[in-house]
Amino acid sequence: MIKVNNNFQLLPVSYLFSEVGRKVAAFRSENPDREVIRMDIGDVTRPLFPSVISAMHEAVDELGSAERFHGYGPEQGYAFLRDAIAEFDYYQRGLVNIEAADIFVSDGAKSDIGNLGDIYSRECKVAVMNPAYPVYVDDSVIDGRAGIPENGLWSNLIYLDCDPENNFLPSLPVEKADVIFLCFPNNPTGEAIKHDELKKWVEYAHANGSLIIFDSAYEAFVRQPGVVRSIYEIEGADEVAIEIRSFSKTAGFTGLRCGYTVVPRNLKGVYSDGAEVALNTLWNRRQTTKFNGASYVAQKGASAVYTPEGREDVKRATDYYLGNASIIRKALTEIGFKAFGGENSPYVWATSGTGEDSWKVFGDLLQNYGFSTTPGSGFGSKGEGYIRLTGFNSRENTERAMERLIKEKFQ
Ligand code: MLT
Repeated sequence: MIKVNNNFQLLPVSYLFSEVGRKVAAFRSENPDREVIRMDIGDVTRPLFPSVISAMHEAVDELGSAERFHGYGPEQGYAFLRDAIAEFDYYQRGLVNIEAADIFVSDGAKSDIGNLGDIYSRECKVAVMNPAYPVYVDDSVIDGRAGIPENGLWSNLIYLDCDPENNFLPSLPVEKADVIFLCFPNNPTGEAIKHDELKKWVEYAHANGSLIIFDSAYEAFVRQPGVVRSIYEIEGADEVAIEIRSFSKTAGFTGLRCGYTVVPRNLKGVYSDGAEVALNTLWNRRQTTKFNGASYVAQKGASAVYTPEGREDVKRATDYYLGNASIIRKALTEIGFKAFGGENSPYVWATSGTGEDSWKVFGDLLQNYGFSTTPGSGFGSKGEGYIRLTGFNSRENTERAMERLIKEKFQ
């Protein structure tokens, strides 16, 4: 028989959101009369924007015509989309260092986070925030960089603890970290980072030859002035950081699939023989070998997000989800939970403060109020005692779920 990758034996049997989905499905089949409101995975509910739909209709018509048909596209993404991203997400925000050649369009952030592991050495020591989006950790396990599980932690990872005492902003690692995953606005805590805080990380990366992988999938939810949307707002970040973005949460593309990763040409690495190489060259080589590009139709749809109408729709949609997050945060606070995030982010991170096991809280809320959450411990040991709720829902469902909670509490 074929020898398989032993690292899979180390992983939890299922991925966090698959496990939550499995438990919700089991609850539904045991309680067919109960209505369950999903407040666990961050999946959008608003339909695609009219501008996106009409761009995609046109793209489909092109593909259906012999004269205007497109086959394989550029693996890096079509110029019409890379140029729009460079112009609107970077140049017009004063981030003039980032150009279309630095941008690689993909089928979404999650795949890119994992795939980036192909371009840095297996020996790299990886640092993750604790709690963190589980993909950073699980991918490190699969790639053999995480070590072995010991008391809920991976022996070879560096943990950057986040809790209310440090406002969910971790301290710089004591041990040297080669690759540092940062996510702001943060999933799961919902907290955002200001310029001066992030500057420390860019300085650390310069001083230690580290690579920062900055996940800014939720940047469109930033409302507060002074809060960072892109790591390239920090001077010198284009020499130490890769940025990952997605159209999933900004423009409702979770089902359609399109995102992008910025690998600036100024970002260099070194082979073990001492030869320098641009990470952009490596990522380009990786993508051209293993990826044939995001679909033409999805890229046409994504380019419509940058039209004046599309940009207004992004604001409207993200305002809507932020409105839900605010309702959640208020309700949880009313019943005596401590709630965080939900202001520059669609996620609310909450604890009853009793230290109760997260999966137990998940089970109790599902059983008693008929809504699902994501147990905080699924995001790391520092998430124990917390749950995460998502603003990605309809206003009606959000209000109904929170009313159930408040009514019960104050009856
Ligand atoms: C989440 O709920 O944390 C994410 O949306 C899931 C994902 O993007 O993979």
